[in-house]
Amino acid sequence: MILKDKVAIVTGGARGIGREIALTLAREGSDLVIVDVDNQALTKIEEEIKELGRQILVFSVDVTALSQVEEMVNKTLDKLKKIDILINNAGITRDALLIRMKEEDWDKVLAVNLKGVFNCTKAVSKVMMKQRSGKIVSISSIIGLIGNVGQANYAASKAGIIGLTKSVAKELAPRGINVNAIAPGFIQTEMTASIPENIKAKMLERIPLGKFGQPQDVANLVMFLASEKASYITGQVITIDGGMV
Ligand code: NAI
Repeated sequence: MILKDKVAIVTGGARGIGREIALTLAREGSDLVIVDVDNQALTKIEEEIKELGRQILVFSVDVTALSQVEEMVNKTLDKLKKIDILINNAGITRDALLIRMKEEDWDKVLAVNLKGVFNCTKAVSKVMMKQRSGKIVSISSIIGLIGNVGQANYAASKAGIIGLTKSVAKELAPRGINVNAIAPGFIQTEMTASIPENIKAKMLERIPLGKFGQPQDVANLVMFLASEKASYITGQVITIDGGMV
C-alpha cells in the first residue's frame, strides 16, 4: 500500500474516471473525500469505499462555488484532521462549433473545468502549506494540447488547467507540495459514450496502441503522482493516450 493512511479529496469522484481514481487510492490505503453533484452516484461510491475498509466522506458540492468548497475543506479537516492529496477531476463538455456556441456553454464549461480547479486548489493549498506537504493532480486533456473541432470551450478550459498547474507548482514548491496535471486521450466513460460510432472509429485509427483507454489506466498514473514515489516530479503535464499525441 503506497498511500497508507493518507487523506485524499477527489472531485467528480462519484462516477467515471474519478470513481476509479477513488477506488484505486482507497485500495492503496487512503481515506477518501468525494465531491460531486450526482447524489445517487455519491451514495453508491460511499458504500464501495466502506467495503474496502477505508473512511469516506461524501459532499454534494458544486466545485464552481468557492464558499461550498471552503466549507467542504473545513468539514474534512474537522473529521479527518489533514489533507494529503487533491485530485481535480470534475469536468463537463458542452460541445458546439464556435459560431454556434452559446455564451452559457462557454461560461459553464470554463466555470466547472477551470474555475472549479482554481477553487479547490486554492482552498486545499492553505491547508497543505501549513502541513508543508501535499500532492495536487488535475485532470486536463489532450484536447487542451492539440484542440478539437467543436470543443473551443473545453480545449480552452483544459489548456487553462495546464497554465494554472505550472504556476501553482512554482508557488507551492518551497512548501514541499507537488502540483501536476494529466492529459488523457480517449478514455471509455459515460462522457465519451455519446460520441457517434463513426467518429470513434476514426479516433481509433489515430491511436498507435490500437485501443481506447480505461479509467483504470488514468487511476494508475494518479496513484503514482499522489505517492511519495513521485516526490521529485512537479509542474508537469503527463499525457496518457495510447500514443495518440
Ligand atoms: P464523467 O462525466 O463520467 O464524470 C464527471 C464527474 O464530475 C461526474 O460524476 C459529475 O457528476 C461530476 N461533476 C460534474 N460537474 C460537477 C460540478 N460542478 N461539481 C462537482 N462535480 C461535478 O466524466 P469522465 O469521463 O469520468 O471525466 C473525468 C475527467 O476527465 C473530466 O475532467 C474530463 O474532462 C477528463 N477527461 C476525460 C476524458 C475521457 O475520454 N473520458 C479524456 C480526457 C480528460
